[in-house]
Amino acid sequence: MTTLLLSLETSCDETAAAVVDRERRVLSSVVATQHELHERFGGVVPEIASRAHLERILPVIDTALKQAGVTLSEIGVISVATYPGLVGSLLVGLTAAKSLALACDIPLVAVNHVAAHLYACRMAAGPDVFPAVGFVVSGGHTHLYDCESPVDLKLLGCTLDDAAGEAFDKVAQILGLEYPGGPQIERLAANGNPAAFSFARSFLNDEELRFSFSGLKTAVLYAARGIPGSRETVPPLTDQRKADLAASFQAAAVDVLVGKCAQALRLTGRRTLCVGGGVAANGVFRAALERMAKSLDIRLVIAPRDFCTDNAAMGGLGWELFERGDFAALDTDVTPGLMR
Ligand code: KG4
Ligand code: ZN
Repeated sequence: MTTLLLSLETSCDETAAAVVDRERRVLSSVVATQHELHERFGGVVPEIASRAHLERILPVIDTALKQAGVTLSEIGVISVATYPGLVGSLLVGLTAAKSLALACDIPLVAVNHVAAHLYACRMAAGPDVFPAVGFVVSGGHTHLYDCESPVDLKLLGCTLDDAAGEAFDKVAQILGLEYPGGPQIERLAANGNPAAFSFARSFLNDEELRFSFSGLKTAVLYAARGIPGSRETVPPLTDQRKADLAASFQAAAVDVLVGKCAQALRLTGRRTLCVGGGVAANGVFRAALERMAKSLDIRLVIAPRDFCTDNAAMGGLGWELFERGDFAALDTDVTPGLMR
């Protein structure tokens, strides 16, 4: 009887391992962040990320097994995120997973990292969350899906340029905040006026389910530093002005994110909305989603805050593949780009 799954996640800059039982209970979840390594570059440097994964992956697996109080001999399936992500980062997780699978004769399953972000909702709220509209809002994705099941995702729409999390990170950089910027923007925005600047809500009234955040980011840049070549001067970037910019940016981003979810729900007729990814940890976004769900009378499941940013517990999705007999061969490769 296979009862325990070991999940590995190394798609970007978090080295993570978790042990999840067949009832999708999380026995342990260990995440080693690399934020301090990438901070001075204002974003993730792929080569640095791969090297850091190499150093961390074995201790992180050891810690996850220890915290769950189990040994490798009790693991019945290994799950690993193989797409999408940074190629060098993904390869470290996959190579570790394959080595363990081969050495210990354990079956291997390969999970979609984006689907795993949505599966965090299933882990928290039970199997009946699907079918649903799924919304992944992270540093790499702003993707709306029609989800017939946890493994059957049809893309409804996505960003044409920056992902929402990427916009938070870039605006944070403009305001002189640390990476990753999302939590810093949220903190600063709490002291600001969300109506101080009226930034455009891109595509909000557009029929198509698409997003664009690069214009919003540029609008914040110009409001903070002035338009290049223009004679008009902007007021000094005081702490209050920074907070107002953060709050106004956050309000514009949240309006678009929530508006598009409502549109996707109307379009598909689905009665459940699952939201995951790093930006879903944002309190203002969560509260706006709650209000929208109430007004449309739909069921809203947002991933628990700890399981919004990258983690391996959401790789409990591997159980779905295991139960469908969808195993990965030992010559499985990573796929850095997103398969739609
Ligand atoms: O899901 P995640 O850990 O990694 C990707 O798969 O991309 O998401 C990271 C992103 C970063 O852009 C980070 O700034 C953003 O999620 N984020 C937030 C918050 N916490 C993390 N954005 C807004 N508000 C937050 N509280
Ligand atoms: Zn992610």
